[in-house]
Amino acid sequence: MNETLRIQQAHRSIRSYKADPVSDEMLDQIIAAAHQAPTSMNAQEISLVVVRDAERRARIAELSGGQTWVAQAPVFITIVIDFHKTELGVRKAGQTQVIHESMEGFGVAAVDAGIVLGTLITAAESLGLGIVPIGGIRRNPQDMIELLQLPPLTFPLVGLCIGHIAGDAPKKPRMDIKTFRHDERYDTSGYAAAIDVYDATLIEYWQQLGRSDGIAWSQNLGASLKQVYFPQVRPVAAMQGLLNDK
Ligand SMILES: Cc1cc2nc3c(=O)[nH]c(=O)nc-3n(C[C@H](O)[C@H](O)[C@H](O)COP(=O)(O)O)c2cc1C
Repeated sequence: MNETLRIQQAHRSIRSYKADPVSDEMLDQIIAAAHQAPTSMNAQEISLVVVRDAERRARIAELSGGQTWVAQAPVFITIVIDFHKTELGVRKAGQTQVIHESMEGFGVAAVDAGIVLGTLITAAESLGLGIVPIGGIRRNPQDMIELLQLPPLTFPLVGLCIGHIAGDAPKKPRMDIKTFRHDERYDTSGYAAAIDVYDATLIEYWQQLGRSDGIAWSQNLGASLKQVYFPQVRPVAAMQGLLNDK
């Protein structure tokens, strides 16, 4: 197995960081890797806002629902859907941009943001740093927009903590790979049994970590997916001009 595959297959999220800063050189390399990520139509409709200031990280930790690791990790990167940037190009070409009002636009930008997130993760982990993605910034997207001074036609989709690892975490087991990889055609026949096995595996994983609050995968999803857990996304995105009505 080569080094890249080893790093990717060793992934685990880190929620305990040292105060040591991430060097400028490391951060520049991580961001240069993500800068070269592919984007649909070469639109490059993703921007990053890097926050290193401790007070501002503490504020983001609070806005994300009290996630202490956001305040602890020395670097927080917000991945921003940026149809403001593309609009400048479209306008220069004498056209009127519409894509930002569509589900196609939001979906494509979310894909491209995910590629940037994944690239940042692999780059940071390849340098021995720890990471954890933070979707919790969508809990209070309007406050994030104000904190980062984001213009119309942009949206803070997801964040990423990066730092030197203080407390390592074991790899979290995944559901059977047969529920992930389908050859030739989609096959759901093994799902119910695989979910039963995975629920038991995850409870055992939490017990091994001494986490008495750890619950089964299905129970956890039942609690979180029974509602729109970040209901501010739709109205705030619409206020930003990302109407999602086409
Ligand atoms: C888009 C995205 C958003 C996430 N948001 C959060 C978050 O707000 N807080 C957090 O602690 N972990 C967050 N995570 C981390 C997941 O909980 C974690 O990846 C998952 O439980 C699997 O664990 P692992 O990364 O250790 O393998 C997020 C992950 C992704 C991909």
